[in-house]
Amino acid sequence: MIKMENLKVLISEEKLMARIKEVAEEINAAYSEDEELVLIGVLKGALMFYTELAKHLKMHVRMEFVSLSSYGDSEKSSGKVNALNLHLPNLEGKKVMVVEDIVDTGLTLDFLMNFLRTKCNAKEVKLCALLDKKCSRKFPVHPDFCAFDIDDKFIIGFGLDYKEFYRNISYIGYLEN
Ligand code: IMP
Ligand code: MG
Repeated sequence: MIKMENLKVLISEEKLMARIKEVAEEINAAYSEDEELVLIGVLKGALMFYTELAKHLKMHVRMEFVSLSSYGDSEKSSGKVNALNLHLPNLEGKKVMVVEDIVDTGLTLDFLMNFLRTKCNAKEVKLCALLDKKCSRKFPVHPDFCAFDIDDKFIIGFGLDYKEFYRNISYIGYLEN
């Protein structure tokens, strides 16, 4: 377990809320209000971001979720994506937006975006990420919308876990060495 007194704030709850609202406005500007958009959240990490973002969207939103994991239990990516749940409705001809907590190596999203683009016949598949760790990218994944770029440090909170804990923290924190 983590000693909470060692956890420093990287992005405060206030900053998260304000920036997520801005990103939602960017998305609203890119779609018309009478359009349908299928929002696909990647569980479990995207949960907090997904709900906060969705509250501010103005088009007709359908909420769907997939469950993927690449990290297993450790701080380093396992290098392999586990598709725990990929059940989705028929997406043929639909506009789809994947909502993810963080793009790190890009492995998870490379897998999911390719799956959606090749297997689901969606009209359009976009990506909205809360955080982008560009410096650790190994796969060609480029978010269409992104709230924050961050450096390569291990962070927790607001959906992001360490060994499945701390997702409930209301801000993004990091451990000071
Ligand atoms: P990728 O497949 O390497 O891009 O990793 C994506 C997944 O790894 C995310 O959905 C997160 O669950 C997890 N992840 C990446 N970086 C961090 C971090 O700093 N803290 C917690 N989880 C992370
Ligand atoms: Mg994770």
